[in-house]
Amino acid sequence: MWSYLLWGQVALSQDHLPTDYLPHIFHKERREQFRALMPPNSVAIFFSNPVQNRSNDVDYKFHQDPNLYYLSGYTEPNGILVLFSEPQFNDGGQYKEILFVQARDPKLEQWTGYRLGTMGAKEKLGFEYVLTAQEFLQGKIDYSKFNKILLSKPNGAFTDNVNDSTDSYDLFEYLLGKVNSLNSIRKTDSNPDLNQPQNSNSRVDTKVTREIVAGLREIKTEDEMQLMRKAIKIAAVAQCEVMKAMHSNMSESEIQGIHEYIYKKYGSEAVAYPSIVGAGANGCVLHYIENNKTRVGNDLVLMDIGAEYHGYSADVTRTIPANGSFTEAQRTIYNLVLKAQNAAITDAVVGNDFSNLENASRSIINKGLMELDIIRSEEEGRKYYPHSVGHYLGLDVHDVSLKGKFKPNMVITVEPGIYIPEGSDCDPKWHGIAVRIEDDIHITEKGPINLSIDAPRTVKEIEELMKQSSVLNQLILPNLNTN
Ligand code: GLY
Ligand code: MN
Ligand code: MN
Repeated sequence: MWSYLLWGQVALSQDHLPTDYLPHIFHKERREQFRALMPPNSVAIFFSNPVQNRSNDVDYKFHQDPNLYYLSGYTEPNGILVLFSEPQFNDGGQYKEILFVQARDPKLEQWTGYRLGTMGAKEKLGFEYVLTAQEFLQGKIDYSKFNKILLSKPNGAFTDNVNDSTDSYDLFEYLLGKVNSLNSIRKTDSNPDLNQPQNSNSRVDTKVTREIVAGLREIKTEDEMQLMRKAIKIAAVAQCEVMKAMHSNMSESEIQGIHEYIYKKYGSEAVAYPSIVGAGANGCVLHYIENNKTRVGNDLVLMDIGAEYHGYSADVTRTIPANGSFTEAQRTIYNLVLKAQNAAITDAVVGNDFSNLENASRSIINKGLMELDIIRSEEEGRKYYPHSVGHYLGLDVHDVSLKGKFKPNMVITVEPGIYIPEGSDCDPKWHGIAVRIEDDIHITEKGPINLSIDAPRTVKEIEELMKQSSVLNQLILPNLNTN
């Protein structure tokens, strides 16, 4: 049986949609927690991310601001969430939050897709008081009566879409105009800058919002953990499938394509960050995203890839030999990184913090590099292990946090690496070897749980899995003959 949602001339099928989104109650409870931490007589304002134009009629795919999503579940552009520390009385009613959404517009929706509108936001997101973005511009809120205006500024650069009078640019400009009259904040026309140091008397504050949200987001609820486990499992399964399919004649982008195909197969909406697939020395570029080498040959291939599932990120790196077996030099460096990673994962326990993991991984790598005569003093180690051991993971791949001690239900990455670029000051047999091993770790009272464990990490397990055949190797495509 088909069911349709009708509006204007367009009918949308409502069948076969995912059903495992965060429930309303999750977002409602996060709003309650946020409100409980707001200063007295304050208002907090969160914006949708702006739509980013690529060129002419083409925009980049929209991605919601994680804070707005976390607190509302709203996934459309041009929305605003307003939370009040105390109930407000207006329009004959009492309310403590308002969600402003894009108004329905059948003509536009035929081009750019369905909008919830005010009714849909009430029904689907469980908000009681929903207005249109247009109404945000009509002075619904008297900012002058609040002691603090807590602002979460939209991410990225944004420009005015002259065809849309309620795009993020207009909404944010309007708010800046209002609060500028209360408080002096510097801005430029195209990029309002609220990151200026704000003294404690300043009425507008962006720091408090960041801190409150970070304190909430760094601890995952069970609802969030289910989505994180799924995103991470998808990424781990993709690593396994690539291990089976990999051969020397593959290109970096073909390998990327297999990962991302498997993400899509499992319903992942996006990559959590641009996929990194670097063969040989390309792996030394930490955020290498060109992925344009046409043949990976006999090199190690570093694959740092993460699915995003309903907003939640995975971030899993495996480094494997393209031809299925590690050379002695590759194995030596690989096992050193693995030893460092295992030590750091063991230290990912409640009460520790990232410094414990840094020290554990760095001392093993430095000692190992000394023994291999790749460095002459431990101080030199940072040259070959130049990044930190990990970060928090969640709605953002580099997730927000208060950077304190580890607590139960935090999720972190543990990702030491060794990168030896061509021409390095050591025996040339090491040149062009780059290894990073990255796993996603759930911190619990009972110790660390490796959520990406399904993707093999030891030399033996990787070589064994790479011996298996993959159905993808039977895919023979025609020669394009385009000349
Ligand atoms: N994929 C980026 C990182 O590992 O931090
Ligand atoms: Mn990472
Ligand atoms: Mn990564």
